[in-house]
Amino acid sequence: MKSEQAEPARIVVLISGSGSNMQAIAESCQKQDIDANIVAVISNRPGVPGLDRAEHFELHSEVVDHTEYSTREEFDVNLIRAIDEHSPDLIVLAGFMRILTPDFVRRYKGRLLNIHPSLLPKYKGLHTHKRALEAGDKQHGVTVHFVSEDLDGGPNIIQAVVPILDDDNEHSLQSRVQNQEHIIYPIAVKWFTEGRLSMLKGDAYFDNEALPENGLQLN
Ligand code: GRF
Repeated sequence: MKSEQAEPARIVVLISGSGSNMQAIAESCQKQDIDANIVAVISNRPGVPGLDRAEHFELHSEVVDHTEYSTREEFDVNLIRAIDEHSPDLIVLAGFMRILTPDFVRRYKGRLLNIHPSLLPKYKGLHTHKRALEAGDKQHGVTVHFVSEDLDGGPNIIQAVVPILDDDNEHSLQSRVQNQEHIIYPIAVKWFTEGRLSMLKGDAYFDNEALPENGLQLN
């Protein structure tokens, strides 16, 4: 556990688009539900709405535009440089739509979180809402997990389950899932900053207990 005198944790958030999860975490920090500061928001795309949200919250933001680099490795080296300028305790991927190199993932192992809109290990990758609907699933949801070198494959921390309704379409389902995203991501970040979460040999631990494959269930 963090000691009483510890400085607020330093968080760098990586985004590619809307930034609504970044906003949910920023609000929790602002309300001091989370004892942490977002010290930088870094986007790989210029001009995205998430950068406006960062400005609204008076957060420092930067763009490391992936189109300016000819290889994934070169982009990641520059991204690492930008992140490390801020000496973060935690790196939060919040709708960051880039596949990261193994070197990047290894560098931040155990302090790199991601949110994925499915009940992992189900539906890794893209178009998760569409795939859940097409499969006729009765429930869907969202997962916060530690990032490992497997895409969407690191150990799960927390999930929220969302029922699929008969008249759901991709948009309605996505919107209900997003409501849950904005609840569970701040919870996971809070736990991390309180020293309650860790990753050891590929497993996630909460209060020193190994978490089940699905992680903790919010509902
Ligand atoms: C979310 O649906 C998240 O699950 C996925 O990308 C989306 C990001 O949304 N990884 P936002 O940029 O946080 O609004």
